Amino acid sequence: MSSQKKFYITTPIYYVNDQPHLGHLYTTVAADVLARYHRLLGEEVFYLTGTDEHGAKIEEKAKENGLEPQEFVDGIVAKFQSAWKDFNIDYDKFIRTTDKKHIETVQKALQHLYDKGDIYKGKYEGLYCRGCEQYKSQKDLVNGKCPDHNQEAEMMSEECYMFKLSKYSPQILKKIKSDEFKILPVERKNEVVGFYKEDLRDVAFSRKNVKWGIPLPWNKEQTAYVWADAFLNYLTGLGWTGEAGKAPAMWPAEVQLMAKDILRVHATIWPAMLLSLGLPLPKEFFVHGFFLVDGKKMSKTLGNVITPEELKKKYGVDAARYLLMAITPFGNDGDISWERLDEKYNAELANDLGNLVNRVILMVKQFNNSEIPKDDNFSSYPGFRDIYFTKEYFSGIENYFDNLQLDAVIKKIFSVIKDLNKGIGTYEPFKMDKEFRDGFLSSCLESIRIIAWLILPFMPETADKIFSQLGLDPIKEKSKKFREAIKWGGLKPGTKIKKGEPLFPRLK
Ligand code: MSP
Repeated sequence: MSSQKKFYITTPIYYVNDQPHLGHLYTTVAADVLARYHRLLGEEVFYLTGTDEHGAKIEEKAKENGLEPQEFVDGIVAKFQSAWKDFNIDYDKFIRTTDKKHIETVQKALQHLYDKGDIYKGKYEGLYCRGCEQYKSQKDLVNGKCPDHNQEAEMMSEECYMFKLSKYSPQILKKIKSDEFKILPVERKNEVVGFYKEDLRDVAFSRKNVKWGIPLPWNKEQTAYVWADAFLNYLTGLGWTGEAGKAPAMWPAEVQLMAKDILRVHATIWPAMLLSLGLPLPKEFFVHGFFLVDGKKMSKTLGNVITPEELKKKYGVDAARYLLMAITPFGNDGDISWERLDEKYNAELANDLGNLVNRVILMVKQFNNSEIPKDDNFSSYPGFRDIYFTKEYFSGIENYFDNLQLDAVIKKIFSVIKDLNKGIGTYEPFKMDKEFRDGFLSSCLESIRIIAWLILPFMPETADKIFSQLGLDPIKEKSKKFREAIKWGGLKPGTKIKKGEPLFPRLK
């Protein structure tokens, strides 16, 4: 076995009843940032995302559009894939629940659960929300409506197959409490422990009236409950073929990302299925918050929807990725508005980062004929390396990444950018004598190179542009390992820099 550390990260697979929206983009970018960071560390990374394509809701939507379900989902899936391409999402696999291999494996896995008696014939009666594709209890509803979907829950009663969730609850709860199966942030863990205190009923695992689903192998009249089908993507996406007790090499996941809307199902049904299949539980769920626009839930009716395309059009891909990650602490709900996004763009990207790179490159062009100067006379000065790029600084960043505090990583990077800009303002290198100025500018360039490495997981294209401006070949530069690359001294005096277009033109 190799000693290389592994990192398996997943997003939820998204419903394809509609186009990708900002919430989907948020989770997907966050996972991409983490996957890119762990790749930089030299770990074996697998990043899985995809689409959840079965169920009543999608069947209905296809009908509304006058299309066969498969035709309908193919169209929407193409939109998700092209959005992820646009946003530079570097996943290792995009899983679709309509993939033939996924379907066969789900059937095999469910057959196993049935054979061992964890799935049994029963009857389920309750209030069902189509939006959530879940049964609800009275207390989940407000005036009979699901608060997440603002739609009446319908009374449903049907013969179906049930899954023995109750059999596994005590074991799961124990693992959650001991953090063997971590749920973060801790408030979310407490919430889950709360669910477990309620009497967790067995769940309906099949549907008679939903045709758009995976037929149960032992009773083709029924289709698999869409969540049972969907959860298994986390294994089929790794190529698992349904052997109980045999996990694929990348399983368990180091991190499974999701928002709080789907925590409850994830923290109950999914681990119970894993235990029933004789497989280990994921190491960690990280639950982030919800995006609100001007304090209100984004909705078409309210007309406050911000789409991924609009973000891209206004700010460009890297800035959009940055803004999503920077605008709110990861884990909390976030309120966004065009005003706040514009402000942040201008302050942090145009003024801080863009301006730093631009002014330093311009000075080197003006004073050093576009060649990286030597810093011979600067070593006696307590240079930027010792002030900013200390061991503690980098371990702080690593620590934030480990705890998924992505907004905190950004703040730490940008505090140095701000200080460097301030330093240039205070020390006015254009007034220094040549020797001192050469040292100062060379240190600025080296700092910018390190900053490009630090922002790389968030803004990969910008990092490349900065490397090029510094006269480096981005591909060659990126062949270095992160922990080596961030060491001071990667630039060679005499190298020609290349002034480029402004990285982040100011918005008017
Ligand atoms: N198909 C299920 C998940 C199955 S996973 C085995 C589903 N799909 S969904 O399309 O509704 O996606 C829900 C997820 O999208 C959330 O958990 C979150 O990751 C992301 N978001 C959707 N809207 C969001 C916001 N407004 N804010 C933040 N993230 C949100 O549930």
